[in-house]
Amino acid sequence: MKQMNILVIGDVIGQPGIRALVSMLPGLKKHYNPDFTIVNGENSADGFGITESLVHTILGAGADMITTGNHVWQQREIFPYLDSTDLVLRPANYPPGAPGKGFGIYEKKGVRFGVINLQGRTRMWPIDCPLRKAREILRKIESQTDIVLVDMHAESPEEKEALAWDLDGKVQGVFGTHTHIQTMDERILPKGTAFLTDLGATGPRNSIIGFDPETGIRRNLTQLPLKSEVSSNPAILCGIVLTLDRDTKAVTHIKRIREQSAV
Ligand SMILES: [Fe+2]
Repeated sequence: MKQMNILVIGDVIGQPGIRALVSMLPGLKKHYNPDFTIVNGENSADGFGITESLVHTILGAGADMITTGNHVWQQREIFPYLDSTDLVLRPANYPPGAPGKGFGIYEKKGVRFGVINLQGRTRMWPIDCPLRKAREILRKIESQTDIVLVDMHAESPEEKEALAWDLDGKVQGVFGTHTHIQTMDERILPKGTAFLTDLGATGPRNSIIGFDPETGIRRNLTQLPLKSEVSSNPAILCGIVLTLDRDTKAVTHIKRIREQSAV
């Protein structure tokens, strides 16, 4: 069986995340030889959003495209860029009129990779239904793609699993992002879709979901809306590698990655 690999890296948080990605992604690509690489970059701008220059850094490190989530709107200067590119997606289920695109098709060496970015609604903004939006986009793109991958940026494991089961057999992979904590429930669902509830973040090891513990503790003690700073210590890089049969495009394996950065 001829294999192909797809590498997906979880939420890159601030400078420590960027440093880890830039220093580790080339080695990971050498090791896994992925045909396609996705990076979630929504926390790359000091924890909140992404800038055009960080887009170039992440693509320069070896990503083929970038997914995002709820924080994508926090660096407003990215809005026109989001409208102009397919290389950065924002969740597809924002109402019409929001800048940017929620899905894209990327052709590499004759294989057409479709990527759909979605966002959950449980304990998040009440945007459009991610399940209905995924079905709608799939109807549009299934004849134009060989492989479809879905980044479900959401708080709720229940919502992520519901989406994955709804898409089972219709896409190759569904992976959750946003919580910054990697789950260890990687599996292939009965009809062949690979799923992991959350990839985990590429962010500082000594932190509360990437941010400085002192502020996190104080916010919890006082319930004040204190703004967090990204911790400055070296990151742990988190993600998955999917292995597929190159001919049938069936997923044969899903493997979690969680590696400490030296820088
Ligand atoms: Fe998020």
